[in-house]
Amino acid sequence: MGEVTFKIWRTNPSTDNVESLGGTGQFQEYRTDISEGMVVLDAVHQIQETDATDLAVRWNCKAGKCGSCSAEINGHPKLLCMTRMSDLPVDKPVTIEPMKCFPSIKDLVTDVSWNYKAKKQIKKFKPRKPDHPDGTWNMAQEDIDRVQEFRKCIECFLCQDVCHVLREHSMHDQFAGPRNLVYNASLEMHPLDIEDRREDLKKQDGIGLCNITKCCTNVCPENITITDNAIIPLKERVADRFYDPIFRLFRLHKKERQS
Ligand code: SF4
Ligand code: F3S
Ligand code: FES
Repeated sequence: MGEVTFKIWRTNPSTDNVESLGGTGQFQEYRTDISEGMVVLDAVHQIQETDATDLAVRWNCKAGKCGSCSAEINGHPKLLCMTRMSDLPVDKPVTIEPMKCFPSIKDLVTDVSWNYKAKKQIKKFKPRKPDHPDGTWNMAQEDIDRVQEFRKCIECFLCQDVCHVLREHSMHDQFAGPRNLVYNASLEMHPLDIEDRREDLKKQDGIGLCNITKCCTNVCPENITITDNAIIPLKERVADRFYDPIFRLFRLHKKERQS
């Protein structure tokens, strides 16, 4: 492929205040030789080796399985290790920048800890009583098929990064984001789980803020059908719980009896 130009986001040198790390930055241009089979992470490593030894990039597996190397390539949220150079136009510079949705730490590395905090708020798995005295349950594969899809999530947070509710409107305090809705779905739709998360989905996780744009589904490297298989069925459960006329009558009646 020959020599390719990259524009990589570099943050300005930090002060001694950790909170201010990554506050400002700019694109810096690098050129490096690209050969057949290389992915963007290979190019970044090559640049690190030759021109920018202090360039920060997070990665672990280089196999699309750890979810560490999330970034934006030519403005699109992608895994650096799964994006082939041969799939990118190289007649103009390839831009690489950190995910926009989360605070920058240094160069391509972002602080994604908010996602884990939001996940911690979700009610834990609560199984029904075991079916057998030895503490085990019976489950059919067909009952578990649906949640197995959600368990493929590698927590790359690309879906969070692309969702306009977080990306454009920064509603992190009101919306848990598609990744955490997938996590909710993996618990809510688990055949053994008896917890009810519908009120939290509405009030705490802000599921109503999702207007089904499906951008999250389009970027998921694990091809999880986030919107159709997780979010929409959860929305339906929330609607049944809060807007079902019979359930509303029952709640009104209960309230009256309590007052
Ligand atoms: Fe990444 Fe997909 Fe999980 Fe979102 S649902 S964090 S895009 S693997
Ligand atoms: Fe956001 Fe996905 Fe809904 S991108 S608006 S969570 S469908
Ligand atoms: Fe693990 Fe890219 S390095 S997903």
